[in-house]
Amino acid sequence: RTVYLNGEYMPETEARVSVFDRGFLMADGVYEVTSVLGGRLIDFDGHTVRLQRSLDELEMRSPISREDLLEVHRELVRVNEIDEGMIYLQITRGAPGDRDFVFPDPETTAPTIVLFTQNKPGLADSPAAKKGIKVISIDDIRWGRRDIKTVQLLYPSMGKMMAKKAGADDAWMIEDGFVTEGTSNNAYIVKGNKIITRALSNDILHGITRAAVLRFAREAQMEVEERSFTLEEARTADEAFVTSASTFVMPVVQIDDAVLGDGTPGRVAPRLREIYLEESV
Ligand code: PDD
Repeated sequence: RTVYLNGEYMPETEARVSVFDRGFLMADGVYEVTSVLGGRLIDFDGHTVRLQRSLDELEMRSPISREDLLEVHRELVRVNEIDEGMIYLQITRGAPGDRDFVFPDPETTAPTIVLFTQNKPGLADSPAAKKGIKVISIDDIRWGRRDIKTVQLLYPSMGKMMAKKAGADDAWMIEDGFVTEGTSNNAYIVKGNKIITRALSNDILHGITRAAVLRFAREAQMEVEERSFTLEEARTADEAFVTSASTFVMPVVQIDDAVLGDGTPGRVAPRLREIYLEESV
């Protein structure tokens, strides 16, 4: 695989980052995941806008222009022959040469930028999407700025492990009785014809897929309500689903021990997945 590191393309085995990089020492960095379908980037603009916002919130400078970033994405898709898959992009505050809690001077410490591709044949035609996934509920003990897409992914990673150990696929996080989001996706329930999902705030990541899916749902005259919902409400919903750049729209058929509907994906989530895949590619 060819990867991109600080302005250069190179084989992954040659890419080297300093042990003093603040991404490595302090999880001081941000990332984006953009999916690729049929060799084309999905929602690229949305991801670059959010990337810039994450950088601004952390007082980091972008080491690359938007145009060059698009070019790097396209070049990696081309050289690594990605038809279906993902591009991972990470920008960390760089390596000041020592460990210090204080941010280094951006004039002397350049950010580290890394991009690599992941080949995922069958991403769109996923068997999981036909069956639906099971989630467990766990406490949301993450920090208060979940709107910033930082690389601090230890708790989401632990959440996935808890799900795996419980024989489930993912975890929904609960704060004050309300569902915030999945470990790496936004969460939704369906009641009758109404799609319900938490409103945007610092409590959740402002999903790029979320924005597109809600737009398509409204265009298709589906009713959308942006408000918090409780775990109890979710357990008795007609349907549930999650959205993210890596799963698109993924039906949820079980929450803890509560089976939703007849335990199959239902009507709304599969339809939204279909619309999303049609409209985004
Ligand atoms: N995760 N919420 C969280 C906590 C996420 O990590 C993600 C994305 C989302 C969905 O955002 P989007 O639709 O922009 O992908 C919501 C990525 C895919 C990941 O960490 O791999």
